Amino acid sequence: MYIIEKSLKLSENVYEIWVNAPHVTRNAKAGQFVIIRTDENGERIPLTISKISGDLVRIIFMAVGKTTHALAAVPAGGAISDIAGPLGCPSEVKKFGTCVLVGGGVGIASTPVIAQALKEAGNRVIGILGARNADFLILEDEMAEICDKLLIATDDGSKGHHGFAADLLKQVIAEEKVDAVWIIGPTIMMKVTSNVTREPKIKTFVSLNPIMVDGTGMCGSCRCVVDGKTKFACVDGPEFDAHQVDFDNLMQRQRYYMEHEKEALAQWKE
Ligand code: FES
Repeated sequence: MYIIEKSLKLSENVYEIWVNAPHVTRNAKAGQFVIIRTDENGERIPLTISKISGDLVRIIFMAVGKTTHALAAVPAGGAISDIAGPLGCPSEVKKFGTCVLVGGGVGIASTPVIAQALKEAGNRVIGILGARNADFLILEDEMAEICDKLLIATDDGSKGHHGFAADLLKQVIAEEKVDAVWIIGPTIMMKVTSNVTREPKIKTFVSLNPIMVDGTGMCGSCRCVVDGKTKFACVDGPEFDAHQVDFDNLMQRQRYYMEHEKEALAQWKE
């Protein structure tokens, strides 16, 4: 069993937990993820590593289905049955020059750890955070501390630019030379935003979030199409070249169990 040392609600349906898991924290690198089971009969869910502090790993997630609601319901001092990881390939961290990190919605969760690693590698780092409204904006202070410059966009204009993170990325690229971009957020946001860097041919990474089961390349549930080839996000990713990803195929696969998920959540709530 693994103890959740801290549990906070960040905004509507968005939670932050700190899990005591030294086997994860000892080896974790930016861009990797863990797979959690709340109980021994539970579903396995992949969640990105958001921060490491001593033996604690921070995970930020949105409660959307049965398992994430169950995880949100575990109080501080409570326990989960498993946390496997770190899994996946780390982010490609090296000295690029100027890097832009774009986080959308709960995808912002994994940006500080990548931003920090890029800074330590000697890069200038610009952060762009996008959210539905100011209430859904997370980790703004933390990113402001790490990044050389931080820009904010909200869909409703309640904070920062009234519009999308993609608009701000366009603006940054028009103003200065950008060498590498990371875009992490909902799949449709990653698809749209990565089009901004396609024509100027800026190296762009996205972190894919397909359905996963084992997280070790055995089950095939996380397969996605990159550069026309089948890849397993859990072992070949989760980060891939944004301009090579077949986002439509990914979105179609993400919808595969939607009805079952709705049914499971309804039963859990009864
Ligand atoms: Fe099973 Fe990736 S989650 S192969």
